[in-house]
Amino acid sequence: MEIRETTATDLTEVMLIQREAFGEEDEAILVRNLLNDSSAHPTVSLIAVQEKKAVGHILFTAAQLEGSFNNLVLSLLGPLAVLPGWQNQGVGGKLIREGLALLEQAGTDLVFVLGHPDYYPRHGFQPAGRQGLDAPYPIEEKNADAWMVQALRPDLLGSVCGKVSCADTFKRPEYWRE
Ligand SMILES: CC(C)(COP(=O)(O)OP(=O)(O)OC[C@H]1O[C@@H](n2cnc3c(N)ncnc32)[C@H](O)[C@@H]1OP(=O)(O)O)[C@@H](O)C(=O)NCCC(=O)NCCS
Repeated sequence: MEIRETTATDLTEVMLIQREAFGEEDEAILVRNLLNDSSAHPTVSLIAVQEKKAVGHILFTAAQLEGSFNNLVLSLLGPLAVLPGWQNQGVGGKLIREGLALLEQAGTDLVFVLGHPDYYPRHGFQPAGRQGLDAPYPIEEKNADAWMVQALRPDLLGSVCGKVSCADTFKRPEYWRE
């Protein structure tokens, strides 16, 4: 399986993967809007290609920490999608690992995700709120563990805190409710 960065010509396939994986249009539109949002850049947008077919897509967008630690380089993972027929075969994990490696090379300090709390810890994420790293919008207590962080260099977690500011497209409370 090949993992590669997307280009503008991949947009239709990327949107199809997002639509099929989530069973609705919202994430496909979200991805299109994020890719067109200058405040989301730099992005890392990767597809997994198997026998010339794109089967998975992951997007990371730029973020910042508000306050004293605003010099840190942050990225936000999401959405991540794998075509239903290709799930549970390691595609999602491969996209995450490749994305994190590229972000690390680019000097990223912290990567955040709002997602399944049973899935992302397999790939190095841990709850962020109790580390003093707050989401752009309040996360309901019952979903607190879904807001997660991973440091890409040592000794950061525990020594930095603040609220994450995300791309303009993500600045809608409904994206942070579940
Ligand atoms: C979630 C998703 C991206 C995972 O990708 P994938 O390629 O299927 O996952 P992988 O093959 O890397 O990992 C599979 C493992 O993760 C587990 N897993 C998959 N989805 C999970 C979830 N939502 N919560 C917890 N564990 C999950 C599987 O049970 C499997 O566990 P096992 O290794 O013990 O058998 C994919 O299932 C998907 O596109 N789902 C629909 C869209 C979605 O929910 N996206 C994520 C939003 S946060």
